Amino acid sequence: MSNIAQETVLDVHHWTDRLFSFTATRDTAFRFKSGQFTMIGLEVAGKPLLRAYSLASATHEDRLEFFSIKVPDGPLTSRLQALKAGDPILVGRRPTGTLLLDNLKPGKRLYLLSTGTGLAPFVSIIKDPETYERFERVILVHGCREVAELAYGEAVVADVRDHEFLGDYAGAQLLHYPTVTREPFRNRGRITDLMASGQMVADLGLPAIDAAHDRVMLCGSPQMIADVRTFLEAHAFEEGAGHRPNHFVVEKAFAERG
Ligand code: A2P
Repeated sequence: MSNIAQETVLDVHHWTDRLFSFTATRDTAFRFKSGQFTMIGLEVAGKPLLRAYSLASATHEDRLEFFSIKVPDGPLTSRLQALKAGDPILVGRRPTGTLLLDNLKPGKRLYLLSTGTGLAPFVSIIKDPETYERFERVILVHGCREVAELAYGEAVVADVRDHEFLGDYAGAQLLHYPTVTREPFRNRGRITDLMASGQMVADLGLPAIDAAHDRVMLCGSPQMIADVRTFLEAHAFEEGAGHRPNHFVVEKAFAERG
């Protein structure tokens, strides 16, 4: 069996000039865990052109969802952004990744810290009932330059809160903390600065971040990851991985290379 399946695009939503999301059919045999990524792409000149993308759909949903940046001259994203319903899309059958609930030790609160398209794996995680069974509080943090770039995350959180089963969990346990760096908004500043100053936990009414109770997943640009990692390690957080669960796990945001 080939490692790449062909699926069909169902729906495309352009959120800003730089960001779009789309859904596609899902082979019933395709299984993944919340937070994983897989290779997706298009056939170009008779060859598959593939990039790693986080699965932004829930494991229980019958369609796949992806969240992408548009890189003007990017070999893949310049083509992906032109997708329409009915177009074919290639989806790798071997999802993988470290942003898994199983890679974290038990704790009280789960912080999901993202910038830009780094939100995508957390969309899947906030739609997973197990997330709410393992943690008392789930805090989705999304940092963007501009308010308009928060729109996909806002829409997903609204859907989860309205969902017939997830809504009860989310209503009681999910906190959403969007923040913007380059224009006015109710929460302003980089995630790193909002953590260092204690502003974020103060706004949320939560205690200071503490490795004894808090678990963290990080997904964003390499620089954001490096800076948040420095903060966490200075607060005695240790990184987890497959078969070695610990206080935090990390993945770089995909789809940044075009
Ligand atoms: P800033 O506007 O100060 O650069 P990008 O679109 O470049 O990926 O950035 C997404 C968001 O991540 C922006 O709000 C950006 O803030 C922020 N950001 C960039 N670098 C870092 C970093 N090292 N730590 C935390 N946030 C960062």
